[in-house]
Amino acid sequence: MRNIDAESLAKAKALFDSGTIYEFETGTTRGLQLIHRGIFGGLYDFAGEIRTVNISKGSFRFANSLYLKEALAAIEKMPEKTFEEIIAKYVEMNIAHPFMEGNGRATRIWLDMMLRKNLGKVVDWSLIDKTLYLQAMERSPVNDLELRHLLSGAITDRIEDREIIFKGIEQSYFYEGYTPGE
Ligand SMILES: Nc1ncnc2c1ncn2[C@@H]1O[C@H](COP(=O)(O)OP(=O)(O)O)[C@@H](O)[C@H]1O
Ligand SMILES: [Mg+2]
Repeated sequence: MRNIDAESLAKAKALFDSGTIYEFETGTTRGLQLIHRGIFGGLYDFAGEIRTVNISKGSFRFANSLYLKEALAAIEKMPEKTFEEIIAKYVEMNIAHPFMEGNGRATRIWLDMMLRKNLGKVVDWSLIDKTLYLQAMERSPVNDLELRHLLSGAITDRIEDREIIFKGIEQSYFYEGYTPGE
């Protein structure tokens, strides 16, 4: 049986190892689409494609598909100079949830690329507990204080450290229910 998550994880790691990830635009919808296509291309037929139907998680409805293009255009114009601005932009992109599936994994990489470019930092995701992270994300459309607090405690300037990057990607897949080797 084909394991889409395992194949996607390998593609995500390859994006970093090849350096391709660093050629993508940061902070834009197109940049996020390239990341999504990079990690899900050949695995999902909607890889890199903006959804045209409505989706929700728990009791939260993500942006209505009718207004999604406009929402994305507004989000990519948001500033990304400070940590607070970058988190605010990430929260809005999560509310947009532009893809049918794979938003969590693609958008965390998109977040790291903004932090890297503008602040010379990335999140060390291995330090962030799954339950606390998902709770903070659930809370973030109302108030992003919890998320900011959680992420600021795990920020690192070791942006070239392959172990931090790879463990971070594995942790990101773990948040979504996939553990390598299972
Ligand atoms: N109730 C919620 N409200 C807002 N965002 C949420 C909620 N639940 C999960 N999320 C966010 O959505 C992500 C999962 O989205 P999804 O498209 O399924 O991504 P993936 O396929 O990578 O799992 C989580 O990582 C989290 O950031
Ligand atoms: Mg999912």
